[in-house]
Amino acid sequence: MEKSTVLGTNRTGIDMSPIDIKEMVALSNATPSSSPGDEQAIAKMRREYIAGAGVIGSVPPPGTLKGMASTAMEKLAGKNPEAFIDKLGCRLAFERSGVRLYDALITKCSATVDQGHGIPLNTLRKFRDEEFRHFKLVEGAIRSIGADPTAQTPSADVDAMASIGLIQVLTDPRTSVAHCLEAILIAELADNDAWQLLIVLAEKMGMDEMAREFQTALQEEDVHLTHVRQWYKQMIMEDAAVAS
Ligand SMILES: [Fe+2]
Ligand SMILES: [Fe+2]
Repeated sequence: MEKSTVLGTNRTGIDMSPIDIKEMVALSNATPSSSPGDEQAIAKMRREYIAGAGVIGSVPPPGTLKGMASTAMEKLAGKNPEAFIDKLGCRLAFERSGVRLYDALITKCSATVDQGHGIPLNTLRKFRDEEFRHFKLVEGAIRSIGADPTAQTPSADVDAMASIGLIQVLTDPRTSVAHCLEAILIAELADNDAWQLLIVLAEKMGMDEMAREFQTALQEEDVHLTHVRQWYKQMIMEDAAVAS
């Protein structure tokens, strides 16, 4: 495999110019902060914003309450369906993003196949298709309780914000396959944990059949995680020229 970590003219470190170190440190010690105070000032300002802020979003009321299966309604009675819908919406959005993450990884791996990274494209395509099926599975689950799968729930919004960096890593033309696998590993770790939580939540909401269907998705996610983790580890070890 071609090395993805190379030596070069990186000028960010102080050791690039040893004769200037003394002067640089002296200047840094002599230069006052650009603004007075300490971290308490920013904490105070954040507290003020928090006190005056509303919520980041809301869950729309199920639009087909009348048409909602009475069995689903009975099961959700006395519970807080919006909390469940919020997490379902979050999973839906994440699985959709997962498809896009794998699309980008497939492009990266196919464009760099001559580097001998050895990541099987067919396996990546299978994982991508499974993410899509999970998305459709959650869409059906949301519809089955009378909610709207096209609505962006608050948790979906927050998750999308947290994932922005991952898609940026995967679509940056300069990143290596190993960099991209690290980003996918972060996504798969979060994905795996979120499915486990959603399954417990579905069970507690009385949605046993839904929880069983989600279990099959989790089994596929387990396979994704195992493979991505192994590929990433192997690539890092090879890059460091040590045995994995
Ligand atoms: Fe997923
Ligand atoms: Fe996955």
